[in-house]
Amino acid sequence: MTYSRIAGTGSHLPEKVLTNHDLERMVDTSDQWIVERTGIRRRHLAAAGQTTCDLAEQAARRAMEAAAVRPADIDLVIVATTTPDRVFPSTACLLQARLELGDCPAFDVQAVCTGFVYALDVANRFIQTGGARCALVVGAETMSRIVDWSDRSTCILFGDGAGAVILRASDEPGIVSTHLHADGRYQHLLTTDGGVSDPPPGGNPHIRMSGNEVFRVAVNTLGAIVDETLAANGLEQGSVDWLVPHQANIRIIRATARKLGLPMERVIVTIEEQGNTSAASIPLALDTAVRDGRIRRGETLLLEAFGGGFTWGSALLVY
Ligand code: ACO
Repeated sequence: MTYSRIAGTGSHLPEKVLTNHDLERMVDTSDQWIVERTGIRRRHLAAAGQTTCDLAEQAARRAMEAAAVRPADIDLVIVATTTPDRVFPSTACLLQARLELGDCPAFDVQAVCTGFVYALDVANRFIQTGGARCALVVGAETMSRIVDWSDRSTCILFGDGAGAVILRASDEPGIVSTHLHADGRYQHLLTTDGGVSDPPPGGNPHIRMSGNEVFRVAVNTLGAIVDETLAANGLEQGSVDWLVPHQANIRIIRATARKLGLPMERVIVTIEEQGNTSAASIPLALDTAVRDGRIRRGETLLLEAFGGGFTWGSALLVY
């Protein structure tokens, strides 16, 4: 059996930092409210002119270096993003050209905060069926470009960044199972107020969210996907080594960890410093914990995410 194994990880955060105290000067909010309700203290923002592809490039270069792969080795590029540089070409094509990866397939996946799990699933299927042997999978976002900076209910949440993994074909496990879902009937609870074919009234689209309702559905849905993932693999609660969750809200993360039977010491949390970086948050968290030595080879990880669509998904893998 052919598995997809993570051969290397990388990530990148833009230099500029926006703190909760900075936000206090922009909207009617407080550091205390934001920390208590979300767990976020700071987030990184792309500079003017700095794009999603710029962030993706830095993360991808680090992942390639960590995996010791050359450009010629990579035969698939998938970028998960909700904030592509352009309508087209895809950010994956822009990135492929930057990294001089030849003419391998390259495309974007759009599943908002679940985008990286979707991209990982697709790359895994390519590798398992022999369509690729070495995939670059990236989650990269400049969410700050679609945030309404006058809306205190959303502008406190989001940040920019990118994370990447190199997936290689291997005889040893790897990605063990992936579980993807979507339910478009919830589209109105977490959306943008327009786009390309349905443009917003005044310029750029902005995020609109019924936070409280999203929160309730997210907690229940992520609980269900934990059960689904454990059951599919015949695993008991508490039997995975690490939870690497999407970083939307510390309260959602705590609820999912409880459901998984894991203490918070076994959960990778980056939300305090990074906020919600949508499709970038899982590979950013993964790279952080790989580089600081917490996640080691042979350990079992559960990745999970929930986002606009609604979309949600998980991946169980041996690192
Ligand atoms: N500062 C101070 N007060 C605020 C702020 C703020 N930034 N934002 C809202 N409030 C107020 C509200 O107006 C409300 O006041 P009221 O009681 O007088 O009406 C009160 O705080 C409570 O508001 P809620 O929305 O009920 O607050 P809640 O505890 O639900 O926290 C939050 C809001 C943090 C947004 C939470 O609901 C959440 O995290 N939701 C889920 C987000 C998520 O997971 N999204 C999915 C991924 S994102 C993606 O896919 C793009």
